Amino acid sequence: MSKKITIAIDGFSSTGKSTLAKQLAKHLGYVYVDSGAMYRAVTYFAMQNGCIGAEFFDKETLINSLPFIKLHFEFNTDLGFAEMYLNGVNVEKEIRTIEVSSFVSKVAEVSEVRAKLVEQQQSMGKKKGIVMDGRDIGTVVFPEAELKIFMTASPETRARRRYDELQAKGENVTFEAVLKNVEERDHIDTHRDDSPLVKAVGAIEIDNSALTREEQFEEVLSLVSKVSKSL
Ligand code: DC
Repeated sequence: MSKKITIAIDGFSSTGKSTLAKQLAKHLGYVYVDSGAMYRAVTYFAMQNGCIGAEFFDKETLINSLPFIKLHFEFNTDLGFAEMYLNGVNVEKEIRTIEVSSFVSKVAEVSEVRAKLVEQQQSMGKKKGIVMDGRDIGTVVFPEAELKIFMTASPETRARRRYDELQAKGENVTFEAVLKNVEERDHIDTHRDDSPLVKAVGAIEIDNSALTREEQFEEVLSLVSKVSKSL
């Protein structure tokens, strides 16, 4: 049996990181962790507790509330992946709305939030055999990961995917609003002071604008087997 490794997948929003990560985890029998879900859950907490809104962001109150934010994942056997729980409540649906998407980059800029989540993410990866996706996984969370992937695709391609997903869930949004959100998040994610989104040293870049899910999966799977054999 080949040795278990750590797979770090980073990239811009809606590049299909989580789809790829889930496929890999299922195929390899690894644990999948959606680190973005954790930032989204903290954002949802901030919204529910009056810390963030269209015109304001009470960062101090959010920072002081961090000890009261308990996050964990629970595997859903029907869905085949783990769902996000905030203080014991399943918030998987609540954290995927356009409102949460529009505030999450602001929350993810806060160093105290990042420190708390990175610590939890690192402890989840201690045993290896993990696929984690996000923005700083190969740079900050697991800089020693045996395989690092950096995913890109054009903003229009990504907005179209996100728009289709939201439509399928019955969310009432326009394509223009989704594109604007994608572009704003790209800007904030790549320009923040703490752990900006950059391609990690040693990461392999995959532009999937013109790749099918299967082609992309096969490409990464062959990288996994190459890395595992070289250990
Ligand atoms: O992957 P996602 O779109 O669900 O992530 C939501 C937001 O969380 C994204 O705009 C940036 C932030 N994020 C981050 O800063 N670091 C991570 N490791 C994961 C997500």
